[in-house]
Amino acid sequence: MNLREYLALQQKLVDAELDRLVPAETTPPATIQRAMRYSLFAGGKRIRPILCMEAARAVSGGVEGALAAACSLEMVHTYSLIHDDLPAMDNDDYRRGKLTNHKVFGEAIAVLAGDGLLTLAFQTLAELDAPDERKTRLIAELATASGVVGGMIAGQVFDLEGEGRPPEAALLETIHRAKTGALLRASLRMGAIYAGADEEQYAALSRYGEHTGLAFQIVDDMLDVEAPSEQLGKTAGKDAAQQKITFPAVYGLEVSRRMAREECDQARASLLTFGDRAARLHELAELIVQRKS
Ligand code: IPE
Ligand code: IPE
Ligand code: MG
Ligand code: MG
Ligand code: MG
Repeated sequence: MNLREYLALQQKLVDAELDRLVPAETTPPATIQRAMRYSLFAGGKRIRPILCMEAARAVSGGVEGALAAACSLEMVHTYSLIHDDLPAMDNDDYRRGKLTNHKVFGEAIAVLAGDGLLTLAFQTLAELDAPDERKTRLIAELATASGVVGGMIAGQVFDLEGEGRPPEAALLETIHRAKTGALLRASLRMGAIYAGADEEQYAALSRYGEHTGLAFQIVDDMLDVEAPSEQLGKTAGKDAAQQKITFPAVYGLEVSRRMAREECDQARASLLTFGDRAARLHELAELIVQRKS
C-alpha cells in the first residue's frame, strides 16, 4: 500500500471511531453535538491519531484498541483549533476549508464545543479497554501535554503574549515546543504506552515526537507565508499580520526550511531500534516536512 492509500485508510478508521465516540447529532442539547461534529469532521489531516497508532504498531504489531486512545488526541487538537480561531485569540474565519466554528454557531457555543471535546477526550481514555495502570499513564500524558506547564495551553499563552514583541529565538522555541510540540510528542508517547513499550522504546518514540513536533510547527509557519489560503483551508499570511513570533520571522524562509529538514532527519535517526516496523513513521516524518497544507 502506498503512503496516500495508507493515509486514506487510517483517516477513515479515525473518522469512524470518532463518529462512534461522539454523541449523535440528535442527542439533546443537539446544538453542542452539531458544533463538535462540525469541526471534528471538517477534514483534518488526522496526523496526531495516525502517529499514535503507528507508534503502537512499531512497539507491538496489532493495535486495533489504540484507535480510541488515538481519537482522544484528535479531540483535544480540534478543541485547541476551535479556541485558537476565536476572536479573542487568532480571530480566524476559516478552518479546514470551512467557516470557523464561532462563525457558524456563535462564540458561546464555540467555546462550549471546545470544552466539550476536551472533556470527551478524557472520558474516552477513562473508558478505554486497557489495564488501569496504562489508562492512568495515558490520562496523565494527555493532560500534561495539553496543560499549562510546557503544554499546549502554556504555548498558546506565550504565543499570544509574544504578539508584537521582538522575534527572539529562545522564546520562539519555547512557544513552538509547547503549543504544538507537546501534543505531537504525546501522540507518540500514548501509542507507546498503550502498546506496553519498554523504556528504550518509549524514549526513542519521545525523541521522534519532539523532533517531528518542532518540524510540524516550523512548516506550519512557513506555509502561512508561502501557501495560498485555498490550499491551507485557513487564512494565509495571518502570522505576519498579527506580528506572531514564527520561524520565518526569526530565521527567514531558507534557514527555516533547513531547520525543519534537520529535525526530520533527527526524528528518523531515533527510529533505529524499531527496524522495519517503523517504516511508516519514517514516511510520516518526511510527510510532515514536505506537506503542502
Ligand atoms: C494546525 O494543525 C494547527 C497546528 C498545531 C499547527 P494541523 O495542521 O494538524 O491541522 P488539521 O488537523 O490538519 O486541520
Ligand atoms: C496553533 O498555532 C497551535 C494550537 C495549539 C492550535 P497556529 O495559530 O499557528 O495554528 P493555525 O495556523 O491557526 O492552524
Ligand atoms: Mg494561534
Ligand atoms: Mg491560529
Ligand atoms: Mg499557524
